[in-house]
Amino acid sequence: MNHEKVEKNVGLMAILIAVAISFGGLVEIIPLFFLDDTTKPTPGLKPLTAVQLEGRDIYIREGCHTCHSQMIRPLRAEVERYGEYSQAGESVYNRPFLWGSKRTGPDLARVGGRYSDEWHKSHLYDPRSVVPESNMPGFTWLFKAEIDSNKTAQKLRTLKRLGVPYTDEDIASAASEVEGVKEIDALVDYLQNLGTVVTGR
Ligand code: HEC
Repeated sequence: MNHEKVEKNVGLMAILIAVAISFGGLVEIIPLFFLDDTTKPTPGLKPLTAVQLEGRDIYIREGCHTCHSQMIRPLRAEVERYGEYSQAGESVYNRPFLWGSKRTGPDLARVGGRYSDEWHKSHLYDPRSVVPESNMPGFTWLFKAEIDSNKTAQKLRTLKRLGVPYTDEDIASAASEVEGVKEIDALVDYLQNLGTVVTGR
């Protein structure tokens, strides 16, 4: 009798379907908030330095994440190509995280230490000078511009409020650390740090 009521009432049916599906989702998602594996930083993980943090902001500004993911899935083909698969604990200080799924270019989660700084600079200035078949655009303007140090301390302070363990000294010295640093150098510093907590490079 009750079942007939549900089947004849589209609105009620829709609500009950939504409840049933959300229940399935919640059962999968809620435990993740309490598991050490997903909430605790990977041992040895350090927050980005002020320069690396500014480098990350350039990475976002230039849209690198629209062509590059930063998440290696636990599949054989990926692990063989990119290295050890990504762990949740590596991303706990990343706000917002940059996992992504669009791979016009290769995944960058383990790119730190794979190439020299010089390689990265040549590649970012003119990708085809080092990878002839590349269709990645060049980012020549990063070689002229310097980091704007006005907001760096505020960025660290905000991240600290969100749980990233920056000290008061980190925040106090942030602006002077990035003062006069070229955008390209900050970006390369950021890239060279990617994945190193796991690869040890
Ligand atoms: C339009 C898509 C596109 C954008 C935007 C883009 N890339 Fe790429 N990237 C590629 C492609 C395709 C390759 C593979 C060919 C090559 O190595 O140049 C690549 C390769 C790379 C590599 C070498 C990875 C490896 O393991 O060999 C790095 C590092 C890199 N990109 C960094 C960046 C950074 C940093 C930015 C932003 C400033 C950026 N890319 C923006 C498409 C893109």
